[in-house]
Order: sequence, then C-alpha cells, then structure tokens
Amino acid sequence: MTTKPSRRAYVETYGCQMNISDGELMEGILERSGYHIVRRPEDADVVLVNTCAIREHAEKRVLGRVSQLNGLKRDRPEMVIGVTGCMAQRMGSTLLEQAPYVDIVMGPDGYRGLPETLSQLETRRAAPPGSESPELFLDRARTNGIEVVGEGRKRGPQLAVLQLDMDENYQGLEQRRANGPSAWVPIQRGCDHRCTYCIVPYVRGGEKNRSADEVLTEVRGLAEQGVTEITLLGQTVNSYVWEDLPFPELLRRVARVDGIRRVRFTSPHPRDVNQELVEVMATETAVCEQLHLPAQAGNNRTLKRMLRRYTVETLLEKVEMVRAAVPDIALSTDIIVAFPGETDAEFRDTLELMRRVRFDDAFTYKYSLRDGTPATRLPEGDFIDPDEAQARLAELIEVSREIQTEINRSEVGRIEEVLIEHEGRDPGQLRGRTRRNKVVVFDGDPMRIGSYAHAKLERTTGATFVGTEVETARRVTASV
Ligand code: SAH
Ligand code: SF4
Ligand code: F3S
Repeated sequence: MTTKPSRRAYVETYGCQMNISDGELMEGILERSGYHIVRRPEDADVVLVNTCAIREHAEKRVLGRVSQLNGLKRDRPEMVIGVTGCMAQRMGSTLLEQAPYVDIVMGPDGYRGLPETLSQLETRRAAPPGSESPELFLDRARTNGIEVVGEGRKRGPQLAVLQLDMDENYQGLEQRRANGPSAWVPIQRGCDHRCTYCIVPYVRGGEKNRSADEVLTEVRGLAEQGVTEITLLGQTVNSYVWEDLPFPELLRRVARVDGIRRVRFTSPHPRDVNQELVEVMATETAVCEQLHLPAQAGNNRTLKRMLRRYTVETLLEKVEMVRAAVPDIALSTDIIVAFPGETDAEFRDTLELMRRVRFDDAFTYKYSLRDGTPATRLPEGDFIDPDEAQARLAELIEVSREIQTEINRSEVGRIEEVLIEHEGRDPGQLRGRTRRNKVVVFDGDPMRIGSYAHAKLERTTGATFVGTEVETARRVTASV
C-alpha cells in the first residue's frame, strides 16, 4: 500500500478500445492500492487523462481538455494531473513543457508503477525545502523508472515514466470493469508492423502476447461474474500466438467457455485472416457474424507505400473466403484518404473497392502526419492539399453511407437477437447490438439492460435500426 485510502482518482480515456481497456486497468491498479474511483474530475484528487496519438486532431482535442481540467487546480492546487497513454508516450517531456500544470506523463508500460509514481510525487511535494536534495530524490525515483523532468518553484516536481518495456507482461494486473454483460479482454499489446503512416508501434512498442491460460482464466472468471459477451483486443489481434497456440485456437477456446454467448475480436490484420480463423468463425456458435477488415486503401501502389503487406486482390480473396464460410457476415473497415502521393485515380480505386466489397460500416480518416513515422520522409510535394484531402474524405463518406443505407434497408424485417446494452436517447427506449454488431433501439424496461431480447427491425436511420421486441421460441432473458 503506497497511498492513503481516502484518495480519489478519476480516469478519462480517449482513443481505441485498447486504450479504454487500459483506462480500466489503471482504475483497477489505483483501486487496489487504496484509491476510490470517482466519475467526475471535480471530485478527484488525482485526474488522469489517458490519451491517443493516432491523429493530430485527437491530440489537439486532448490538449484542450487537459488545459480545461487545469482550471480545477485554481481552487485545489494540490490536485494531481497526469497524462497517460499514447500521446504521453509520444510527447514525453515536451508535453510537460507545453502544459506546465501537468504533474505526470506516463506511457503505456508504466501503469503498474502508477501508485508508486503518485506517492513519489506526493512525498516530493510535501518535503520541506532543503529536506532532501533534488539529486537524492532523483536517484530514488530513477530506480523506479521515474524521471524527474521539471522541478520549477511554482510548478513543483514533474515526473515522467516513459520506458517501453518488452518484459512488462501486465500479468497479475486486473481491470476495473463496470458491471455489465460485455467485457474487453486484451490478449496482445504493441505491434510488430510498421505501416508507414502509423504511430502505434512507436508509442506502444513491439507485439507482446499474453499467455493463453491467463486469457482463458480471465474469461472464465468474467463468465462467472455474469459477463456473456467478450471482445478480444490487440492491434493485430489475429497475429496472436502463444507458444504453439495460434489465434484461431484461442478464439475457439474462448468461445467454448461456459456462459459466453458472444465473442468478437478487434482489430484483425487482413494478412492474417486465414482458413483456420474462418473455420472457427463458421463453426463456433458464440463467435459473432462480424469482422473488421481494415483495408486502408483500394490501390496496390498505395497499399505498398503504406507497407500494408497485402494487395487489393488478396484482400478480395479474403473477403470471398470469409463470405463463403459465413454468408451473412457483416464487414467493417478503416480507410485513410490522401496518403502522401495518392493520386486522384488511386483514390478512385478505393471508392471502387468500397463498391465491390460493400462494407456494412466504414471508419474513414484523412491522412494525418505523425512525427517519427516513415511516411514523414516522403517527398514534400507528395503531401496532399488539405482541401483536396477533405474533398476525398467527403466523397468516401458519401459512398460508404450510401452503401450502408442500402444494406441496412435490405435488412429491415429481420428478427435479430439483441444484447441490451443501455437506455436509448428517448425515455423508455433501450439500445443494444445484434450479433452482426448493428445498433438497434426499441421500447422496453431499463431493468432488462444486460439481457438478451429479440427485435424485429422495423426501419433504419441509415446507420442504426429502430425495432420492436418480439417473442421467439429461442428467446432468452437471463439477467446479469
Ligand atoms: N491496428 C489497427 C489500427 C489501429 S489505428 C489495424 O492495423 O487495423 C486505427 C485506424 O486509424 C487505422 O486502421 C487507420 O485507418 C487509422 N490511422 C492510423 N494512423 C493514421 C494516420 N496517421 N492518419 C490517419 N489515419 C490513421
Ligand atoms: Fe498501426 Fe499497422 Fe500496426 Fe495497425 S498494423 S497498429 S495500422 S502499424
Ligand atoms: Fe490511439 Fe494509442 Fe489506440 S494511438 S488508437 S490510443 S493504440
């Protein structure tokens, strides 16, 4: 125990599911060392902003938010502000300089030592001037991987924990999960790819997989607590391998855990979508009929320059293979437009890919330059004018929305199993997801949240459905 039990902590997370899951991990670590987790920064002694670095826009938003949170320090100067996650790792002490009111920056491999770091900060702040030389404090802190960056008279000590550690396996650390029917389970951290636009390998380090036994023990424990839906997480989740157990086998074992009714996984890398995986998806009833297949582009020259390690042709083969085995599968994708050097004709190839595959959903982005990534070294003239990039994005969004609406319209009338996740926007409304990951709202009692229902899809707004609940012979309403 390194801190007083009365301390209150608040964690606010941005970014991908992996990062949200890390936010839960930090809450778990803090709770176990005596912190009380609160839901509002106003109520907290320690405020952690868990950040994303994937695009410039994401970082700008977070910096704005951190500065806003600094306003809380006016009344409570002793409050601690920490910035964690990918942007903290990327910016390091630059962030402490840019935002002098930030007390701690901590990258993703530092979370185990979070209570220790907070207590070091507290000790240092409480030390009467001259009681310990900065050098001595520095030495002590360094042994814990903590670097003291600033030691300004006004701002007090600023600590940085930025080592990426291939040996940090996160073993024994537990997430603090909100009670509910769904849980995210990280099975892999970091990434061994080097897609030329992407910052992730630099802020999260190389691929590290968790032991299959540990994953399965966790899933069994979650099932015993009433969780029925599991999402396995990793940056290239299907590249997972533990000893000689490959991802499809792990997926099969997770799907067979008693009490687990739905299993999803994200994000798979298209290159590692193989026959074994598809077979498990087709045969294990708990594995949902949904696959995220991040294409990024629909042109071979662009894919090559992105270092994606597949071609349009092999990607299409994978799509066919998956659809042959799981005919009703819902496919989603990620696309980047205006990668440096992308010509208009190459962009049109991406639109063509969208029309050929007809993804149920697409997450679309404008290329964002990330310092330190290989694409930054492309010739200056290759970088695409922001207006042109915006126009391409708008066109892509239009095409993908049109396809989505057409697909969803054709699904009106179906009866789907829905896992009720929370209340809808309107009073008396519930919101949930089908196995194919489509959102449905329908009227019902909030007491039903966490249980399964069947809903007839009555109409679509384009992206989501409005349904009515129906009785079916197979209906199960096991409450969690
Ligand atoms: N590991 C996942 C991707 C994680 S990042 C995978 O390989 O699929 C999520 C998405 O953000 C990526 O799929 C990509 O479409 C987008 N992205 C990543 N870096 C980007 C950048 N520099 N600019 C724009 N979009 C980017
Ligand atoms: Fe980034 Fe590529 Fe790794 Fe995905 S696979 S995290 S896009 S480097
Ligand atoms: Fe962002 Fe880090 Fe995830 S950069 S997308 S939070 S891995």
